[in-house]
Amino acid sequence: MTLPVFVDVDTGVDDAMALVYLFASREAEVVGIASTAGNVGVQQVCENNLGLLELCKVGDVPVSKGSEQPISTPLRTAEDTHGPEGMGYARLPRTDRQLTPYDAAEAWVRAARAHPGELVAVAAGPLTNLALALREEPALPKLLRRLVIMGGAFDYRGNTTPVAEWNISVDPEAAAEVFAVWGSAWGLAPPKHVPIVLGLNLTENIAMTPALLSRLAAEAESSSLPMSVLDDRGTRSVASNPLIAVLEDAMRFYFEFHFDQNEGYLAHLHDPLAAAVALDPDLVACRATTVDVELTGTLTKGMTIADWSNRWGREANALIGVGVNPELFFDRFVTRVGAFAKRLYS
Ligand code: BDR
Ligand code: CA
Repeated sequence: MTLPVFVDVDTGVDDAMALVYLFASREAEVVGIASTAGNVGVQQVCENNLGLLELCKVGDVPVSKGSEQPISTPLRTAEDTHGPEGMGYARLPRTDRQLTPYDAAEAWVRAARAHPGELVAVAAGPLTNLALALREEPALPKLLRRLVIMGGAFDYRGNTTPVAEWNISVDPEAAAEVFAVWGSAWGLAPPKHVPIVLGLNLTENIAMTPALLSRLAAEAESSSLPMSVLDDRGTRSVASNPLIAVLEDAMRFYFEFHFDQNEGYLAHLHDPLAAAVALDPDLVACRATTVDVELTGTLTKGMTIADWSNRWGREANALIGVGVNPELFFDRFVTRVGAFAKRLYS
């Protein structure tokens, strides 16, 4: 039995890794990709998504363009983190693939209606298009089998402001709208229907390193040179496998960014964890609670607040990830993506 999976991304180095993981997973069938403005502008996100389909030789997956701007906050992008085109130093193949004639919000609704009660969704960018989709189809939460959101930081520092995480910070109004919908009177009881929310407190445990990238290349039976912090910046991959080469070129930029942030020569794979959890929720331990987003604080806008002790007296609207085993995740990531790269290019 394959799981129909819908992915909303602002591709982005780690979004790209998440997409590749889903393509590599035999139990998943990606039925649609929503492109959201975030790490880079939405047109570039669309091009990256189409280029990745080409690179991964994936058949006809509809890619839809989302809103150019967040709901009411002006767009910010993160080329410093993900490179000028969002893929670090990597270049994606050209493609004639086209976007859908309908937009990303409609894509959410179409996918959910086409697979009622079956669709597994991953939101790994700002929640702009999901919020717009919920306006269009208020029954969306009931149509989904599962939703995993990468966003927020719970009892943990932010990566965009001292307290706010990127995806929530780019479109805090959208995030607040999404959590409000799941918190309203749907008669949806946790743990079944509320979104699984993976914040930085969890995803920053998932650190890709040069050693893990070497393991990935070996698994793909690709030639490759180990990367090092001592390499010249921007050194291009010599991997013989084209998928491994793209991932290495993308990851090198991401390593350099994390290094400059004093986090070491490594990179956090936030979005791939969300993709893996969408296919297998047992990868994380979660706690049900009510989440809301700060919209007015001059210092705290975009902060996610979890009401662990139910002081608000509101229904739970999220399952917050609180525990993960990074080794288990990386074993799965390396095995699946390595075998996929080998299948594609040997
Ligand atoms: C999130 O922000 C983006 O830059 C990444 O793609 C990820 O979705 C982490 O805060
Ligand atoms: Ca992302």
